[in-house]
Amino acid sequence: MTIHISAKPQDIAETVLLPGDPLRARGIAETYLEDVVCYSEVRGMLGFTGTWQGKRVSVQGTGMGMPSTAIYVHELLALGARRLIRVGTCGAYHRHLDIGSLIIAMSACTDSAINRHIFFNKDYAPTASFRLLQQAVQVATEQGLEVQVGSVLSSDAFYNSQTEHWKTWAAYGVLGVEMETAALYTLAARQQAEALTILTVSDNLVTGQLATAEERQNNFDKMAGIALQLV
Ligand code: HPA
Repeated sequence: MTIHISAKPQDIAETVLLPGDPLRARGIAETYLEDVVCYSEVRGMLGFTGTWQGKRVSVQGTGMGMPSTAIYVHELLALGARRLIRVGTCGAYHRHLDIGSLIIAMSACTDSAINRHIFFNKDYAPTASFRLLQQAVQVATEQGLEVQVGSVLSSDAFYNSQTEHWKTWAAYGVLGVEMETAALYTLAARQQAEALTILTVSDNLVTGQLATAEERQNNFDKMAGIALQLV
C-alpha cells in the first residue's frame, strides 16, 4: 500500500498505462482488458489491472499536472511498475498538426521548477525510453497511423496570461504543450524504468481549433491501440 494507491505490489502489472483522467482509465480497462480488477479508488483516482491478449497490464489515472502525476508515478514505481506509458492530449504549436494528430514525446522541455530542486538549479533533459519510442513508432507505422516524434513542453499552467509565450517554444521546434511528461521521464529515469508519452492533439494554438467529444474519444482509441501493443 502506498499513500495514494491502495494496492499491494502484486496488484500492479509491470506495464502501466497512464491517462490523466481516471474515467479514461476505467474506459480503457472496460473496453480493452479482460479479468479486470479495480485496485484503487483513493481520491477517485482509479487504477485497474487486467490482461490484454493474455498479458498483464495496469491502467492508472494520474490527474492533471506534474505534482499530481509525480505522486502516482513515484508510488507505481515503488510498487514495482517498470514501464509507464502516458496516453494523453496536448495543444499543438504548429499549424500542420491538426486535431487528432499523434505525437510521441521524445523529450520534454518544462517551465516548471519541479526538476530545479533535484538538479541544483541546472537543467536536466527528460527523455523517453528509446526502446519504447522505437517500438511505438513501428507499431503506429504498421497500423497505418502517421506520428510526429519530437519535443513537447510540460507546462505548469494550462491558462497562461502571457498569451504569446508559446511562440518561442514553437520557434525551437517544440511540437506542443501538455502538463505531465517532464516529471514522468525524470522519475522513471531515477528508477531505471522505461517511460513514454503518446499524445493526440486536442487543440491547436495557431488555428484555435478544438476537438469535439467524439474526436477526443476516437483519438484516444488510436493511442490506446498503440500503447497496448507495447505491453
Ligand atoms: N495546454 C496545456 N495542456 C494541454 C493543452 C493545452 O493547450 N491541451 C491539452 N493539454
